[in-house]
Amino acid sequence: MRSVLRTDDLSLPDAASIFDLADWLLPRILPPDGPRRLKLDGLRGVSGALLFYEPSTRTRVSFELAAKLLGGDVVGISASGSSIEKGESLRDTAMTLEAMGFNLAVLRHRCADAAELFAGRFSGAVINGGTGRGEHPTQALLDAFTLRRHGLLEAGRGVLIVGDIANSRVMRSTAELLTRLGLRVTLCAPPSLLPPAWLGEGAPYAWTPDLDVALGKADALVLLRMQRERMDGAAHTGAAEYAKLYGLNARRLGLLRPGALIMHPGPVNRGVEVGEAVFADPRCAINAQVGNGVAIRAALLCWALGKDPRD
Ligand code: NCD
Repeated sequence: MRSVLRTDDLSLPDAASIFDLADWLLPRILPPDGPRRLKLDGLRGVSGALLFYEPSTRTRVSFELAAKLLGGDVVGISASGSSIEKGESLRDTAMTLEAMGFNLAVLRHRCADAAELFAGRFSGAVINGGTGRGEHPTQALLDAFTLRRHGLLEAGRGVLIVGDIANSRVMRSTAELLTRLGLRVTLCAPPSLLPPAWLGEGAPYAWTPDLDVALGKADALVLLRMQRERMDGAAHTGAAEYAKLYGLNARRLGLLRPGALIMHPGPVNRGVEVGEAVFADPRCAINAQVGNGVAIRAALLCWALGKDPRD
């Protein structure tokens, strides 16, 4: 039983074996020539609690679908309608679920340290489904997997992460994993959307405020949403100004390399960070990422629970 609370809980060989299993699962979960016909039973005997205390479509549904397609039993829990509303702590929820025999928990929460806290009281596998501004390791895995499927997960390739860096757990996890894999990560944002400590010397990643210049050097882009729910009421660039300075529009698509890949974790704010022309561009992998996310989460669950559907 293995937990994944942060990307650095995964060694590079761990990540590679998850990618290999996801490659095997993807055509079975999403057959290119029609509907799914096959149910696998790699997660039979697994009881999972999907605790989503923040909104989510892709992450929540892909974990649920992945677990069900592999024969696992999963129960979804949200803040509204659960004992969290009556003041129950995360620790007590963990103990309660353990007493019911759950051996897997996936947690999304607004606090960056929630997964560690939960894992301290739960003996099954804990998977971080996105915590505050902290970590989102399964998004990092699916971003790296998407690059790999396009032949871009190679040392020396340049990945440009654009937008609300300060509030993004996707950026923290994806940049950490890609850097460890030898890719060159550059951040592109106005200073107001960068953690203040990263503006000076000792910043963990290269940074540029100039998107037009950076676009031509990138092998892949990760576009981020303005995460206003985490902005604590601070004054920030409005949507129209952001679109003008940092939105990927038809003109900027012309600056991007022919073989570059456009990614976004979703949800997308059309007309802000992503212009309408992006979805029609052959370099756009935003929908492919969603499908890859189901295969990656299925593979990660098998890995965490020590199961292999190929056996
Ligand atoms: C991201 C998240 O929740 O951190 N979305 C996701 O998991 N697909 C990014 C976001 O909300 O902008």
